[in-house]
Amino acid sequence: MNIPLVDLKTQYQALKTEIDAAIATVISETAFIGNMSNKHVLKFEAEYCKYTGAKHTIACANGTDSLEILLMAAGIGTGDEVLVPAISWIATSEAVSNIGGKPVFVDIEADHYCMDIAAAAKKITPRTKAIIPVHLYGQPADMDAVMALAKKHNLFVIEDCAQSHGAAVNGKMVGRIGHAGSFSFFPGKNLGAYGDAGGMITDDEKIAETSRMIAQHGQSKAKHDHKIEGRNSRLDGIQAAILNVKLPHLEAWTENRRKNAALYRELLQGSGLQLQAERANTRHVYHLFVIQVDDRETVAKQLADAGITTTLQYPRALPLLTAYQHYGHKPEDFPNSVKLAARCLSLPMYPELTAEQIRYIVGKLRAALGQA
Ligand SMILES: Cc1ncc(COP(=O)(O)O)c(C=O)c1O
Repeated sequence: MNIPLVDLKTQYQALKTEIDAAIATVISETAFIGNMSNKHVLKFEAEYCKYTGAKHTIACANGTDSLEILLMAAGIGTGDEVLVPAISWIATSEAVSNIGGKPVFVDIEADHYCMDIAAAAKKITPRTKAIIPVHLYGQPADMDAVMALAKKHNLFVIEDCAQSHGAAVNGKMVGRIGHAGSFSFFPGKNLGAYGDAGGMITDDEKIAETSRMIAQHGQSKAKHDHKIEGRNSRLDGIQAAILNVKLPHLEAWTENRRKNAALYRELLQGSGLQLQAERANTRHVYHLFVIQVDDRETVAKQLADAGITTTLQYPRALPLLTAYQHYGHKPEDFPNSVKLAARCLSLPMYPELTAEQIRYIVGKLRAALGQA
């Protein structure tokens, strides 16, 4: 058997007729650029509002820009401190540095792997202006605690939803609990385009208006009416048209991911492996299925020999990356993050993964652990 980490080809085959037609339409219309009147982009923004329940969706070029644009729209800039988790993709902290702020890293929870809000509270200073909880692997962060902390210290809350399309807390979709949500539609995400793509959601009129202006070179609704200097961060027509084909399938795909995760969990009972705990009253959307394992190199090699692709998300805690060495962070300040980084191993996870494939993966995994 050959089992990839993510199988985008199978998904494409299932939707080939519609996707090919959508791309051909954009080409025939030459509706390439996602300017303020591109009908494919406008349709996606309207449909994503319906899906999430948000008042505004502002499409943009990728999920790193969406973080940066939201920070700028909230007036965060030079010298401001922003709380970010020590485990995420670098985009989360990079966005803060890119707008002139300082990422203040916070350890993760030992069980759910999202930002530890009790630890975050200890890092608040008079310069702390915002907090970016990441719903890691599709598991919502502890948003009740985030919002309580934010209220106490008047922090702007940007939910990094790059890995958590459709995840929810008490039935409310992520991205709508804080002041704004940032999404990536990178191809391998739960809702993915065929290139880079991103977006923001918010119920806040002012944040929506400013974010849209920033993404469109500072223009308000009228072309050439540049109210401010912004940047070029547009979702292009082809990506929007592809997302419009895919969005109606997202719920079914998410349910399949959850079913696959449940089967993994059932088959891994008694294996001794640590799995990410599911937080009560949340909907985890299983962007990734990550185990913690000792000696993961040997396990990964044995799985690779059996045709199973695995990867590491993420092998180093952000504060310990070379990019942040000037801050002088020490591993002992982020014990849960360092432990996860040293032991994480992502198993194949995608909606089209079959029960037979999962049984095969777990069989090989148990053999690698000497449990066969
Ligand atoms: C948690 C997180 N934030 C932000 C991003 C950035 O998204 P993009 O690659 O679309 O810029 C990613 C993408 O991997 C991510 O996983």
